[in-house]
Amino acid sequence: MIVSRSMNRLIEDQEGWTRKMFEAAIQMRKTFGPENIYDFSLGNPDIEPPPAVKQKLITSLGGSCPGMHRYMPNNGYEDVREDIAAYLAERTGLPFTSRHVFMSVGCAGALNILFKTMLNAGDEVILPSPFFWEFKNYVENFGGVPKFVETGEDFQLDIDAIERAITSKTKAILLNSPNNPTGAVYNEASLKQVAALLQRERKKGREIYLVADEAYRKIIYTKEPLPDLFAIYDLVIIATSHSKDLALPGERIGYLAISPHIANVDLLVSGLMIAIRALGFVNAPALFQRVVAEFQRNSVSIASYREKRDLLYGTLIEAGFDCVEPMGAFYMFPKSPLPDEVEFVFRMQEEERILVVPGRGFGRKGYFRIAYCVPLETIQKAVPGFLRAGKRYIGR
Ligand SMILES: Cc1ncc(COP(=O)(O)O)c(C=O)c1O
Repeated sequence: MIVSRSMNRLIEDQEGWTRKMFEAAIQMRKTFGPENIYDFSLGNPDIEPPPAVKQKLITSLGGSCPGMHRYMPNNGYEDVREDIAAYLAERTGLPFTSRHVFMSVGCAGALNILFKTMLNAGDEVILPSPFFWEFKNYVENFGGVPKFVETGEDFQLDIDAIERAITSKTKAILLNSPNNPTGAVYNEASLKQVAALLQRERKKGREIYLVADEAYRKIIYTKEPLPDLFAIYDLVIIATSHSKDLALPGERIGYLAISPHIANVDLLVSGLMIAIRALGFVNAPALFQRVVAEFQRNSVSIASYREKRDLLYGTLIEAGFDCVEPMGAFYMFPKSPLPDEVEFVFRMQEEERILVVPGRGFGRKGYFRIAYCVPLETIQKAVPGFLRAGKRYIGR
């Protein structure tokens, strides 16, 4: 067989409902025209990067700086890392320097080089669930074992469940807040409880790292900014990117921010340098390192995402869906009115031309995910369909 047994297993896992769903969606687009399909299935922002980012791209290309297309240190340009470190120092009050910043190929690349560097075969990574499915791959890529821990009905962390999941093999907890797929933002009190739990574990001789995926940090609807994990715990490494906050997912630019409290940062960085080469990334894209350096304090319009969230959430509640109000990112995760959410998702396709994703694709059956990073008009046009589905399946 041309593919390995393990890849074949992954391919088989993806078949079944995902394949059927995507085939049905392609067919529907052909039959009804793409403008009559309300596609909420992908987390691919429909908006353009801020004009200043595009302008910076143009000037970066125009100003011919010799060597700008060459290899550079594997962790990225020194001056870019200095700029990002200055932003992190300003945001956290901690002494970040360029060695605490490691430029990466998106947030996905950041997590992969990190887990390649950190994990021994059999090491466990605790993943609060529902979760972004790729996390499972990122951990398993390097012989790690994902340990899924359910969050509560409100999608907040269940500290007791996390405590029960800790074993002598636990290396890290991977937190993703604001969360894909739920839109949950973990509250500061629960993060402090996790930190206290990890401190207790440290006294027993277990050193457990908090790894956070903060790709959606700036897309947040709470009054307060996202809690600062660097202030809450010392062994923190944050992976992020500009895929969502500057709407640059195709450009593959992100970074790791390593807490200045971590003593052996040089050893970690040495490992990351090898990991980024071993995995074949070599370094983050040169041009886009230059582009994003000065936009650390910027983002796309959060007001427009809020408007979309409000319209969609209001519609779901009016229709009778059971849904936790999302406080960040651009996803919501309502309960399916039918026990089998795959069947409900198919019915929404067939009856309303609305495409959403079954919750089992994020580790929780009985729910479905709506990605509302679509034009406002798409949501407006889909409103009657959600309301009719409410009448049909919930009885409003
Ligand atoms: C939680 C989460 N992490 C990481 C990624 C991937 O980010 P990037 O495109 O920066 O690699 C995504 C993309 O949807 C995501 O939702």
